[in-house]
Amino acid sequence: MAARAGPPRLRLPIVGRRLLLRIPQPSDASAIAHALRDRRVTRPIHLPVGYSIRDAREFISRSKQGLKEGSKYNLSITLRSGGELIGGCGLDRIRFDHRNAHVGYWIARPHWGRGYASEAASLVISAGFRQLGLHRIHSDVFPDNPQSMRVLRRLGFRVEGRARQDRVVSGRYRDMILFGLLREEFRPFRPRPAA
Ligand SMILES: CC(C)(COP(=O)(O)OP(=O)(O)OC[C@H]1O[C@@H](n2cnc3c(N)ncnc32)[C@H](O)[C@@H]1OP(=O)(O)O)[C@@H](O)C(=O)NCCC(=O)NCCS
Repeated sequence: MAARAGPPRLRLPIVGRRLLLRIPQPSDASAIAHALRDRRVTRPIHLPVGYSIRDAREFISRSKQGLKEGSKYNLSITLRSGGELIGGCGLDRIRFDHRNAHVGYWIARPHWGRGYASEAASLVISAGFRQLGLHRIHSDVFPDNPQSMRVLRRLGFRVEGRARQDRVVSGRYRDMILFGLLREEFRPFRPRPAA
């Protein structure tokens, strides 16, 4: 009997115009921990205060496991030119039976505002639709995170609702804005022409 094929896999690394998304390496731990010391980066992605190198190492080894199983793709975002690690992005909560997944991303504070999150999310979403055969990708954002909402809207995501009091943050309930993108609605990232 022929062996049953497993789920489809992403071909890595994913190479874009300015960015290269690759499997996190143990040597990424210190850059990740350094970037994730900044509460402006960690608060919106539900990471605790005091993110350490040890946390980063655990994250990298969990990511490896997810990649091995093809169940989630946590990738390091690096600059093609020079190789600096500037963030993370990926697809997780992948449900192959329903052909959907969740997308998440963060960018180290010194690199905000240059379109890197839009480019990285666009690359991983495009690969998710084409290579994993996904039909829908979703994300959820705190209402006070306009940058992230801008990234999602720019790629074609639409607001699908508001999950009221969905998270407990510092002992208080917080709403989340729910975004969804169908394959045919996707608008890949295009850098703005220089003024
Ligand atoms: C959200 C985040 C990833 C954006 O990264 P980035 O590389 O700066 O994003 P981009 O440059 O691709 O796009 C940011 C957009 O937000 C816009 N923006 C920035 N500040 C804004 C504000 N206060 N209000 C509205 N829009 C704003 C920018 O103008 C840009 O839009 P434009 O390209 O149309 O001009 C980054 O801020 C981050 O890491 N935040 C913490 C983690 C996080 O929130 N992750 C997402 C969880 S849902």
